[in-house]
Amino acid sequence: SASASIDVRDWIRDIPDFPKPGVLFKDITPLLSNPDAFRTSIDQLEEQFRDRGVDVIAAAEARGFIFGAPLAVRMNAGFVPIRKPGKLPYATIAQEYALEYGNDRLEIHSDALAPGRRVLLIDDVLATGGTMRACCDLVNSTGAELIACAFIIELSFLGGRAKLEPSEVFSLITY
Ligand code: PRP
Ligand code: MG
Repeated sequence: SASASIDVRDWIRDIPDFPKPGVLFKDITPLLSNPDAFRTSIDQLEEQFRDRGVDVIAAAEARGFIFGAPLAVRMNAGFVPIRKPGKLPYATIAQEYALEYGNDRLEIHSDALAPGRRVLLIDDVLATGGTMRACCDLVNSTGAELIACAFIIELSFLGGRAKLEPSEVFSLITY
């Protein structure tokens, strides 16, 4: 298959000094624009979690949606959006999280998850772990079972993995 010859890592582009001097940004848009590479990234996540009884993929906007929705279809799972404040129309549960400067908040519909649901969280990048920590807290507050947190890219030098303990953490590519 095409997937056998594709290394997802080859489709991540380095952008120096973005969004500010000294930061090397990992750009996923080359991966997204190549159908074989994009499909391979979804296939590899599905292979990792296919035997785990996942019935819901949950992901935070915006970049988490890019991988979460196709993974949900691939795994025959539902998709639950985790959103920035004020976007979801029904009753919500909210979780604050720390940004580099200040705080932000993520929300989930109060009826989106429940005890017995087996949830896989996904995002494009694990950096400091603040975003995914907030997602884990939202899932846990519903009583659903968090199977793992999965990423395309892990920036291991930022130590985000420790913030997600004791949850299982999986990444396709580690820098
Ligand atoms: C980026 C990225 C992750 C998060 C990782 O999202 O998509 O969600 O940062 O950083 P952290 O581990 O330090 O929390 P961002 O908040 O920039 O928004 P976006 O997905 O809407 O682009
Ligand atoms: Mg994001």
